[in-house]
Amino acid sequence: MESTKRTVTCGDLRKSDVGKTVILNGWVSRTRDLGGLIFIRLRDRYGITQVMVGDNASDEVKKIAAGLKSEYCIAVEGVVNARSEKDINSDMPTGEIEVEAKDIKIFTVSQELPFSIEEVRQKDGTLVIPNEDLRLKYRYLDLRRDPMQQNIILRSQVTFATREYLTEKGFLEIETPTFIKSTPEGARDYLVPSRVHPGKFYSLPQSPQLYKQLLMVSGFDKYFQIARCYRDEDARGDRQPEFTQIDMEMSFVERDDVLNLTEGLMGHIFKETMNVTLPEHFQRIAYDDAIELYGTDKPELRFDMKMQDAAFMADLGTFQAFKDAVAVLPDEKGGSLSGGSVKSLVVPGMAESYSRKKIEELEAVAKIYKAKGLAWMRIGENREVTSPIAKFFSEEEMTAILDRMNAEAGDLLLFVADKNSVVFDALGQVRLEVARRLDLLNNNEYKMLWVTEFPMFEKDDETGELKAMHHPFTHPKEEDIPLLDTEPEKVKADAYDIVLNGVELGGGSIRIHERELQAKMFKALGLSDEEAHEKFGFLTDAFRFGAPPHGGMGIGLDRLVMQMLGAATLRDVVAYPKVQNMTELMTSCPSGVDTVQLEELGLAVLPSRLKNELAMLKDAI
Ligand code: AMO
Ligand code: AMP
Repeated sequence: MESTKRTVTCGDLRKSDVGKTVILNGWVSRTRDLGGLIFIRLRDRYGITQVMVGDNASDEVKKIAAGLKSEYCIAVEGVVNARSEKDINSDMPTGEIEVEAKDIKIFTVSQELPFSIEEVRQKDGTLVIPNEDLRLKYRYLDLRRDPMQQNIILRSQVTFATREYLTEKGFLEIETPTFIKSTPEGARDYLVPSRVHPGKFYSLPQSPQLYKQLLMVSGFDKYFQIARCYRDEDARGDRQPEFTQIDMEMSFVERDDVLNLTEGLMGHIFKETMNVTLPEHFQRIAYDDAIELYGTDKPELRFDMKMQDAAFMADLGTFQAFKDAVAVLPDEKGGSLSGGSVKSLVVPGMAESYSRKKIEELEAVAKIYKAKGLAWMRIGENREVTSPIAKFFSEEEMTAILDRMNAEAGDLLLFVADKNSVVFDALGQVRLEVARRLDLLNNNEYKMLWVTEFPMFEKDDETGELKAMHHPFTHPKEEDIPLLDTEPEKVKADAYDIVLNGVELGGGSIRIHERELQAKMFKALGLSDEEAHEKFGFLTDAFRFGAPPHGGMGIGLDRLVMQMLGAATLRDVVAYPKVQNMTELMTSCPSGVDTVQLEELGLAVLPSRLKNELAMLKDAI
């Protein structure tokens, strides 16, 4: 072979190429030695081509072919032959041809692999997925596996479609810094020590929020960025410490302009990358309704099954758990989640098939979310009720209950009674679990949804103080501005979230662009004028110079791709993700640094003993 440079990829060749001499580069996926004939499945990211080494090959080429093992990286020069009718593989785009090798060159050999790159199935057909820690340690090999290649390719296509759509709509892609002054999005900051200014730190952006608002002040009225964001919060399946947002901001817009643009963007992305047509506009639901009906601000609407109010049952009968729950009074700053209630799910037609054991499994789910129990009623054919709480209600009361709940023969009723936050969480999760168990979720359906009318504030679980539900730069609903001084917990925000199949994809808002209002907001959040000036003076100063009304949106790119693929975790759509304990298994980061480096930065690491003592001292004070 004079040159090993590929002339085609492993996914290119078709019947029309028969007779051509080609050079392929790729990895040996598998070889099969049939005595005189050797078959090689050669793979690259474009596909697989079958290479055949037969009688016409020289002894040297036959010898090389016989020695090939999985994942050797090679070049093959050969002639494209048509496969005979019986050998055609219609599952492969290149299945009508094979390449008869004239020459083979090995670029590099491969050691035995820690796991197979080819798909492995058990005898019963189930897919064997290698252990995830091993996959992540050898991530470069894991990324060679076809499912991972497809995920990463889709991700790239989604970014491309985003740039294409927004650029076409007149948006400018502008980079904002990643060594910044802290922007609050509710998580801890990652800090970067400054060598030049010992004791001072940059923080990595939780999002480009303030910089993009300042770009509006500069007159770049349509901005976007595929922005890397960093948040130090506990990692979960749908959270990574670093992630990417499709970040957008627009001037002179109202809420619906942002929603319409986002709908158009999503439509374009889904059409271009997966040929899925989304509706032109997405359903909208107000935050309070989402909570009341589905127990969450990110409802899964691929199936209906709304929660029903059953608080009236506390006035009937003698079941103390229901009476106690309803007696929990709303507290002043608690917003719509405070107070107590009884809620119910009516699962149609499940009375017979849902055994006591299965109900106990559902109860276990409710208990994970702090419910004290999961009461149930099975409605028999003649509306007779089997239930552990039947004894607490008279026959007339029971009939009244069934009527009020619109329960039909054959239905299964599930109840949680507690303070509202627990009822919504627990019954909301039971609702999802029921849907999974009854197979109500169609994997090919993409149910996009807007949640609007968010409360401006929520109560901080730890301190009990009010904090901004989105962020402090969100514009309150115009008509609620007077309540900021008097009853801030009642103020609604001009904010919106986009939800896909029960996962929050993104959020945004119309922003405050008026200096005085921003000051009022900081005050409502308990910031003194000095603190507000120290932290955000650059923003409020900018508002002195003709700030335009503006609004925007940040969409989690990782979550979007995860949901498009129906993947179970973000780790499957991020090339090099971190695991639960925040480490990256391939490079073993984070890692220690040498003392010289620390000294240059004016830093020292406290021994854990001292750290504990300091913490105790702080507690004592
Ligand atoms: P928000 O904080 O809601 O809004 O973030 C927007 C979206 O970013 C994604 N996201 C994450 N994805 C993966 N891992 C994480 N740890 C993580 N945290 C957030 C989510 C989320 O919906 N500046 C505002 C946007 C704006 O107002 O324009 C913001 O960052 O999909
Ligand atoms: P108990 O009287 O505690 O044995 O409870 C009777 C039934 O009511 C059981 O099925 C419990 O799971 C259920 N239950 C108990 N407390 C609650 C509650 N707070 N909400 C809903 N169901 C409950």
